[in-house]
Amino acid sequence: MTALTPPSGDRFDAWADCVRDFDGVGLAGSGSWQVQGFGPTRESFETLLEHTRAESDTGRDLQDGHVHCDYFWVTDPDEVVVGFLAMRHSIDTDFLRTQGGHIGYSIRPSHRRQGHAARALGLALNHARMLGLGHVLLTCDEDNVGSIRTIESQGGDFERILIGKRRYWIDL
Ligand SMILES: CC(C)(COP(=O)(O)OP(=O)(O)OC[C@H]1O[C@@H](n2cnc3c(N)ncnc32)[C@H](O)[C@@H]1OP(=O)(O)O)[C@@H](O)C(=O)NCCC(=O)NCCS
Repeated sequence: MTALTPPSGDRFDAWADCVRDFDGVGLAGSGSWQVQGFGPTRESFETLLEHTRAESDTGRDLQDGHVHCDYFWVTDPDEVVVGFLAMRHSIDTDFLRTQGGHIGYSIRPSHRRQGHAARALGLALNHARMLGLGHVLLTCDEDNVGSIRTIESQGGDFERILIGKRRYWIDL
């Protein structure tokens, strides 16, 4: 079954294999935006791990524009890294309120259409409950059929379209 696994510093090869599969496109929820010149390199991996550990540490103050966030690898039963998911503890920035929402995710191209995104989102909702959130905002591009169906499969309640994004709420 699909699982949400904390990133592991020991599994560079598994992470890099997954990143390569994306070929630079659609890495939502991976945290890649925080790393200049991001790619499937050891340097990007180490930098990313530093950022993601800092962001998930609720004891640390973060710079403006950042919120605490738990990053996961989406893994399959063979522990292959099949994608990424980021669970933000809040949406207290203009960008997250209007565009980003609470949860970002992506599944590597070679492992799509196998139910991983839907199951990973379901697991993320359990994590959100554990964090004490009462509801979560999910957004996706108007034409992202895969994401629309993923969100709706997990009970997403459509609110409206804002800045080209469909907005959904899920009560927890
Ligand atoms: C969107 C994405 C996460 C879907 O991942 P996935 O693992 O293939 O999705 P699932 O297999 O769990 O499918 C979930 C639902 O979406 C449907 N679906 C998935 N991709 C689809 C596509 N390209 N076209 C139509 N339907 C699609 C599935 O049939 C399923 O629908 P169902 O519940 O009615 O059967 C994946 O395509 C991706 O990573 N895209 C790039 C990044 C991205 O867009 N992330 C979301 C940002 S908001």
